[in-house]
Amino acid sequence: MPKLDNSVKDVYNKIINPLGVSKIRLFNDKFSKIPGIIKLTLGEPDFNVSDHVKEAAIRSIQENKSHYSEQKGIPELRDAISKYLKTRQGLDYDPESEIVVTIGATEAIFSSMGAILNPGDKVIVPTPTFALYMPIIEVLGGIPIQVDMSEDGFRLTGKKLEEVLVKEGEDSVKAILMNFPGNPTGYEYTESDLQEIVDVVKNKRMYVVSDEIYSEITYGQEHVSLAKLMPGKTVVINGLSKSHAMTGYRIGYIAAPKDFITNASKMHAYTVTAPSNPAQYAAVEALTVGIDDAKAMRDVYQERRDFVVSRLNELGYETLVPEGAFYSFSRIPSKYGMDDVEFAEKLANEAKVGVTPGSAFGKGGENHFRISYASSIEDLTEAMNRIEKFTANL
Ligand SMILES: Cc1ncc(COP(=O)(O)O)c(C=O)c1O
Repeated sequence: MPKLDNSVKDVYNKIINPLGVSKIRLFNDKFSKIPGIIKLTLGEPDFNVSDHVKEAAIRSIQENKSHYSEQKGIPELRDAISKYLKTRQGLDYDPESEIVVTIGATEAIFSSMGAILNPGDKVIVPTPTFALYMPIIEVLGGIPIQVDMSEDGFRLTGKKLEEVLVKEGEDSVKAILMNFPGNPTGYEYTESDLQEIVDVVKNKRMYVVSDEIYSEITYGQEHVSLAKLMPGKTVVINGLSKSHAMTGYRIGYIAAPKDFITNASKMHAYTVTAPSNPAQYAAVEALTVGIDDAKAMRDVYQERRDFVVSRLNELGYETLVPEGAFYSFSRIPSKYGMDDVEFAEKLANEAKVGVTPGSAFGKGGENHFRISYASSIEDLTEAMNRIEKFTANL
């Protein structure tokens, strides 16, 4: 094994080096070592990819579609994305110039932020939220400004946004990076919630990067994209990881006005060149023939949601009913005198149930815990029974 040469010891990126590893992974890995634990930690669908989607990937290999794809993605997939966004969400994006296919939604976020940020630029991040946002912004030299949504029912209100923009100085803020349906809260913005945000930012010099990766997993209303209300400066992030349980295929995309896509595509091309062909052909199948594949999964998630949320509330863990995604987010009663990390560790060690402490999702998540109910109903039932016993002994 090579030992790092002394002469390069101090040669490192000053931003990357001090960053911690993802707290979600950290807890997941730690809890994995506990024998008999039921882990409800990771945000990953527990369904298999549909056979017809798998077959499309295999077919592309057999047909020797093995050369570099266009950097912004194969035309068939950009076309399928464009039609999908039109049919499902009423959005108009030109497949040639307004869509780029990325390595999962994660790269879509990275390339989008990379297209916007200069060192020192601020980005408003309403929390609790997807934990990767903060390091992505930091890696790019930006400054994430966390806005705590916990007192506002886990949504960014127009009033709060105004206040933050005044405090931070509007000119230094280049974007808002938001997510709905929300991870970890499941909060789904209504059209009027979105309108509040549009009213605040419409005349301001800033983008809204809108991560809508859970758009297919909503339980009440159909998802309304922010781009429906403000197409000129919304950057839509989406992908197939959650809608088609294709997390390991790594297909996401950005849809935005042409000038934005031109820059984001450069960031994308200089980082990853292009997504892999089998995954792209699978995604074409998923978004065309499999356009309704998410429905069956959504129905199962909904049963699990109803079960988990009602049990948690009965046990005294205040939990809002999530309108989307596959997470519950519960408040830890202050009478237990534990912060969320202590609570999650005690629950894992004593009751053998793995949950993610809310602070892993930013400041607004403190004193909460997230359960991913993308698990079998048997595991969820057993986990709730264990949490019940654990709570009775607190
Ligand atoms: C809000 C949000 N955005 C993006 C991602 C990452 O998606 P992908 O696996 O497609 O990179 C996740 C995954 O958990 C997520 O919850």
